[in-house]
Amino acid sequence: MFTLRQKTHEVQVKRIGILTCGGDCAGLNAVIRSVTQCAILKHGWEVYGIRNGTVGLLTDPPMVEKLDVNFKGIGHALLRMGGTILGSTSKGNPFSYKKEDGTFEDCSQKAIDTFHKLGLDALIAVGGDGGLKIMSQLAEQGNINLVGIPKTIDNDISHTESIGFSTAVEVATYALDGLQPTAASHDRVMILEVMGRDAGHIALNAGIAGGADVILIPEIPFNLKHITHKIQSVIQKGRNFSLVVVAESAHMEDLDPLMVTYQDGSERYGGIGDFISRKLNEIMNVETRSMALGHIQRGGQPIANDRIMAAAFGVKAVELVAEGKFGRMVAWQNRSVTDLPLKEAIGSYQRVDLDGSLVATARGLGISLGDE
Ligand code: F6P
Repeated sequence: MFTLRQKTHEVQVKRIGILTCGGDCAGLNAVIRSVTQCAILKHGWEVYGIRNGTVGLLTDPPMVEKLDVNFKGIGHALLRMGGTILGSTSKGNPFSYKKEDGTFEDCSQKAIDTFHKLGLDALIAVGGDGGLKIMSQLAEQGNINLVGIPKTIDNDISHTESIGFSTAVEVATYALDGLQPTAASHDRVMILEVMGRDAGHIALNAGIAGGADVILIPEIPFNLKHITHKIQSVIQKGRNFSLVVVAESAHMEDLDPLMVTYQDGSERYGGIGDFISRKLNEIMNVETRSMALGHIQRGGQPIANDRIMAAAFGVKAVELVAEGKFGRMVAWQNRSVTDLPLKEAIGSYQRVDLDGSLVATARGLGISLGDE
């Protein structure tokens, strides 16, 4: 638990906070480890982990814990561990915080006051598009020295690749590797629904890596007739099965994305894989099966690329704090770490570039993207 800050007459110990917010993904623990290791070993600072995004700043007492490089004996394991030891939530927006009675309250000032009471000099927030927007607003309102680290399997944060994306693509590719032999054995069309929110990056990347015949992404509304043509042409060329990858928010030309309503009334994308499976089964003389990959894309061990990025992001974020460069986000571009104004990154949403090389690659391979 947190102890009061000791002021010394020598150099003031720098005290930083770190939190993870929004949906989890593989590589978050590797970032926490990297930040902690660099801050403590290189700079001699103190590092405090704030639990469950900003929720840890809203409870009495605050849920804040001093981190050390051994992490209670699991320091080394953190590099490999999925999830986040700090916890995370996508329901902890301090500007609209759900109280026990179900009403919403603006608790932002409480989070800010607690942050300052803890004597934290800076905050490193590891978040997605939504989480980093909230953190940026909070930092501005509360004069918090903030550095952002991008994470999301969706890869939808502009100007960077995000932690967790590579692992999600790997998991989806592995799923296709598993679906291909059973599709071939049973002469079936297998439809794999992947996550990605409003962007088709996971579907496009995994579809290419896993040899899909059809890849459907939200950036390109699809027409069923193009999918059936592609499957027919695969059959005519002598192959008895097909693989279709569909992003959760992909939709037909004249329809909105399909949503699932949960018990608490919230809605999320889902169901498009099943929908396509049923439609193809109706229209064509083929047997179809579909599976939604779901949260397995977020959990599990980070692959090497995410660990490397997490290590680089953690160190870079600490160096930005050391240099007093706040309101910035670290970024991964051309296999190298850099940084840019956080506002620039959160000011736009990174969708699949229809003129980009991966779309051209897919088309060059004869993969149908549902529009031709
Ligand atoms: O943003 C990450 C993500 O996994 C999306 O790809 C997906 O649409 C959503 O979160 C699922 O959210 P939840 O964890 O609330 O089900």
